[in-house]
Order: sequence, then structure tokens, then C-alpha cells
Amino acid sequence: MTKKLILRRPDDWHLHLRDGAMLAAVLPETARHFARAIIMPNLVPPVVTSRDAAAYRDRILAAIPQGCDFTPLMTLYLTEDTDPEDVAAAQATGLVSAVKLYPAGATTNSASGVQDFDKVRPVLERMADIGLPLCVHGEVTDPSVDIFDREAVFIETVLDPIRRATPGLRVVMEHITTKEGVDYVLANDADLAATITTHHLVINRNHILVGGIKPHYYCLPIAKREKHRLALRAAATSGDDRFFLGTDSAPHTDANKQSACGCAGCFTAPNTLPVLAHVFEEEKSLDRLEGFVSLHGPAFYGMQPNTEKLTLVKAAPLSAPDHIMTSEGPVTIFDPGFPLCWRVDPDNQSPT
Ligand code: DOR
Ligand code: ZN
Repeated sequence: MTKKLILRRPDDWHLHLRDGAMLAAVLPETARHFARAIIMPNLVPPVVTSRDAAAYRDRILAAIPQGCDFTPLMTLYLTEDTDPEDVAAAQATGLVSAVKLYPAGATTNSASGVQDFDKVRPVLERMADIGLPLCVHGEVTDPSVDIFDREAVFIETVLDPIRRATPGLRVVMEHITTKEGVDYVLANDADLAATITTHHLVINRNHILVGGIKPHYYCLPIAKREKHRLALRAAATSGDDRFFLGTDSAPHTDANKQSACGCAGCFTAPNTLPVLAHVFEEEKSLDRLEGFVSLHGPAFYGMQPNTEKLTLVKAAPLSAPDHIMTSEGPVTIFDPGFPLCWRVDPDNQSPT
């Protein structure tokens, strides 16, 4: 039985770090294990221009604990007023690694997102020219479309037409939650990839709704039926380099989650690697974990994998904290519903 796993240090290709006190509290949870992360721009107000991204990057860099090696990979929030020249300049200086498309109203702080996709054509064309990836929140917002169908409908009615109209555009389908998402990646070429979260490999919609409503399992896109979770597990553990980890770790205070109108998001940064080791072991694919967390993402983004190593060890489960404390209040850590035998070797993580 495998007891120890040595991986190249992983990266997180989709992360919410927030700002201010929340940023200071959650950043160490990622920087402890991950070398780099694609930082989501859905702040209030959003990170729209290169100037916004530079200022946000400075705030993140200032919050990195002493002695900890972590690089934030910045993104711009695409709006109907985004200037293609600003995007190109931000890429040319190495400031941004991607642009994020939120359909207006699809999720947390997406009000400034895109309503009319024709209006962003010039930006998308420019991005195709310069090879800058588009990270897509793939859900339609039409109120007549059932929330469990919103990803599949988006692929057919929005994403596929955009990709056909913009040859060469490199696209990451963020946090896919459906078999349709997996199949769409598999049917296409190397310009298309998808991130998969930790929690969507663990929960299906029953976990949210059966036996009482579980606000800490509510996220967007919402977890779907079991057949979709199984398709995601098959894709993540397949070794196909078009699938890689993007945790979508999205902290909200317990007060904001456990409310009559609770926020969407699962906070998985602290225990993602132990949970993934458990999932990959269940799928008899531990040998493919390194590809999913450390190799496929950099390859898609045209970056080198990290050279440092991280060690996971398997032992009797320890009791782990169920939340972190922030000055805004407690933030509950994702509960996978099984004991965690795997842990990151503490001698082998960044000192935070
Ligand atoms: O669950 C989610 N939380 N999905 C998103 O798309 C946004 C995120 C957040 O920012 O809280
Ligand atoms: Zn997200």
C-alpha cells in the first residue's frame, strides 16, 4: 500500500483570495502548499483594468507570509467596455495570465460581467492573436433555464458559437460540473481545457439537499447528479492533460453562508491535497495525481512546472480543524465526509 507520495509542488488554476482581512486570513492556506494560483478578479469593484490588476497583485504580494514562496497569476475581469489594447499591454508585461468571462449575473459579484457577447468580440479576437487564455464561467443566466441545466445549455448556445467564431482562442472551461462539460473537452482540440474542483469530485446534489440543506456544499456551478460526479472523477484521474485542478476555493464567512440567502462557495484551500489524494487512491490513480495538480496546468498555460517537491504521507487520520478564524468571522473548511488519512508532510511545505 502506498504510504508516501512525492509530487512536484502543485498550482491552483482557479482561486478566490478576496481582499483586505479575508485575503490576509486565506492566503496562507493556499501558499502553504501551492506555488502559484490563477487569481479570480470578482472583487467589489472587480479587477477590470491592468491598473486594477497591478494594484491587487501588490496587495496580494504584501499579504504573503514571510519565507513563503507564492506567485499570484493575475486575471482581468472581462466587461463590455474592456479595451483590447489594455489587455494586450497587461499580457506583454507579464502582469496577467488570463482574462475571466463571467456572464452577467451568473455568480458572486458577476453583475459587471458580459450580457451581449458580441460586444466583447474585439477583445476575444485580440486574445486569440496574442495567445492569452480566456477562463470561462460556463453557465447561462436565463431565468427560464433550470439551474442544473445551465452549464450544458451554455456550452451549446454560448461557448461553442464563441469558439467557432474565434479560431485560435485558448479557453479554459472553469470548474466543469457535468458529463457534457467533460465530453465537450474530449471532443475538441488542445486549445480547450477544463479545470475541475476538489469538491465536485466529492459531492453530488444529494449532499446539498438530502437530510437538511447544507449551505457549506452550496457553490456555483451547483453540484449535479451522481453520473456527472463520476464523469468528473473519470476525467480528473484519466491522465488526459486537458483536465487540471482549479479548486475554486471561495471563502465566505459562516454568517454569509448560513443565511436565508447564503453565498455560493466551498472553502477547500486548507485540505484540497489530502482530499484529492483520497479520491485518486479510491480511483486507483495515485500515479496520476501529479499530472492533475502539478503538470497539466502549467503545460496549458505555457509555463514550466515547479521544480520544488511536496510530500504527501498516509497515516491514521488526525482530527483537523473545521474552520479558520478571520477578523470578519469564522470560515468553514470543506468537509469531504470521510476521514482524511493523507496529509502534506509538514517538513515539506512553505513555512507560513
Ligand atoms: O461557488 C462559487 N463561488 N462560484 C463562483 O463562481 C464564485 C465563487 C465566489 O466568488 O464566491
Ligand atoms: Zn470561482
